[in-house]
Amino acid sequence: MSEHVTNVETQPIPGQKPGTSGLRKKTPVFMQHHYLENFIQSIFDATGGAQGKTYVLGGDGRYFNDRAVQVILRMMAANGARRVIVGQGGLLSTPAASHLIRLNRADGGIILSASHNPGGPDEDFGVKFNIANGGPAPESVTEAIWRASQQITRYRILETHDVDLSSPGRRQLAQMEIDVVDPVADYAALMESLFDFNAIRAMIAGGFRLRFDAMCAVTGPYAVEILENRLGAPRGTVVNRLPLPDFGGLHPDPNPVWAKPLMDELFGANAPDFGAASDGDGDRNMILGRGIYVSPSDSLAVIAANAHLAPGYAKGLAGVARSMPTSQAVDRVAAKLGIDCYETPTGWKFFGNLMDAGRVNLCGEESFGTGSDHIREKDGLWAVLMWLNILAARRESVADILAAHWREFGRNYYSRHDFEGLETQAAETMLADLRDRLARLPGQEIEGMRIAAADDFAYRDPVDGSVTEHQGLRIRFADGARIVMRLSGTGTSGATLRLYLERFVPGPDRLAEDTQEMLAPVVRAAHALAQIEAHLGRSTPDVVT
Ligand code: G6P
Ligand code: ZN
Repeated sequence: MSEHVTNVETQPIPGQKPGTSGLRKKTPVFMQHHYLENFIQSIFDATGGAQGKTYVLGGDGRYFNDRAVQVILRMMAANGARRVIVGQGGLLSTPAASHLIRLNRADGGIILSASHNPGGPDEDFGVKFNIANGGPAPESVTEAIWRASQQITRYRILETHDVDLSSPGRRQLAQMEIDVVDPVADYAALMESLFDFNAIRAMIAGGFRLRFDAMCAVTGPYAVEILENRLGAPRGTVVNRLPLPDFGGLHPDPNPVWAKPLMDELFGANAPDFGAASDGDGDRNMILGRGIYVSPSDSLAVIAANAHLAPGYAKGLAGVARSMPTSQAVDRVAAKLGIDCYETPTGWKFFGNLMDAGRVNLCGEESFGTGSDHIREKDGLWAVLMWLNILAARRESVADILAAHWREFGRNYYSRHDFEGLETQAAETMLADLRDRLARLPGQEIEGMRIAAADDFAYRDPVDGSVTEHQGLRIRFADGARIVMRLSGTGTSGATLRLYLERFVPGPDRLAEDTQEMLAPVVRAAHALAQIEAHLGRSTPDVVT
């Protein structure tokens, strides 16, 4: 077998700047000559080289995943990596990859995914780099990768045949060892160590009915193994279970809009007791009960209040964290439990330092992300199992648990309105214009509500002192209502305005109202304050979650 390292001459390609969650582009962009190779070499160059290192590698199976894995393996070998743990078929969910990095004490990992964005020849592809703690690279690292991508002059690659990834086992590529692993096994074992599988199994055997929608993405094999094989749910509980390169044409984003068939089932006649879905790479989750949708922010608060019912969290929580736009429901639980609650910018990477320092062990975001310090990514199936564990322990329905939660803590009515496909310039101008007026807002009345505070969110990491600015405009009202606005950091074309709306009702009255109706005055205030229609020519959102 002849294998030689080639140094390929190349030039910087503009735009290789990782966003909220890795580098995401249209698939044809990634398939351009040198594009993937330049970025991968930049990762190595920015992190002290690959010489002697151990990596984890896998992706969500979207179009180009199979080719990209082979290219990356050849580049890892050419750059002197010692060992790579790669999922069978090149597949790994993001949570499973994070776990494998930690379990194998790897130096880092490369995950191929554009998360919840559609996949296919004309859709999206992405590359994420995770560091040794299993979490997304922090900004200092992503900035260094970007700088390296602007200086690159050559990349190293091995000229050889494809590696056989079709079955588990040890392979060799030049001097590099490759361990092809079952993508599910270690992850499923971790879940068994955290949750009371016996109690969940007994609940299901007792007639509790559930549905999991894998959306033709990577969680199918994980959910089949855990929910059907280990927990005894009937075969067929997991739908859209086969990962497909184009996700079967679905938009693998678990929210009420894109997972509508699941919503319809849970709100229809003969609905099951519980429904859940996950996204392209398995780190997001949506939770439903019979006839009820659990907003991600409420889910985080309920989990915070009940986590001690799961064996892995029986000692109680050290602290919790949420991203700034996430509703303040969890803050109320933390206050009652007497634990710290941190408010971070959008993006899971901001939780890493807090978890490594032992300050928090439960985190969540409004963007359908929930997780704990068992790994350093959010984790869709983890959230599903946490809910099942809570349901098995409390023996109440999802709706009853939510109602009891609101009676105890009050209810933070919450919604996000997205305006997609905007002209970037117009969206930025609108926010800049509002930013300029923020200082004058406190004290003003609008829609019968008094503005108490307004600012442009900046975060100082309490562990390493780093400062991240311009993370969203927030306007707080005296009655606890809140408006937040920011531009999405995960899109691949144009700009998306995210408008986050929140209104607190202490109870006992008005705890079971319609969310959009309750938020209507806050929505009107937001539109008036930011002059959305004047700037964007739009008054209705494309997606409401
Ligand atoms: C990804 C990250 C999340 C983050 C989300 C925000 O999913 O992993 O941590 O909350 O992006 O996306 P946005 O489009 O609002 O920037
Ligand atoms: Zn994802």
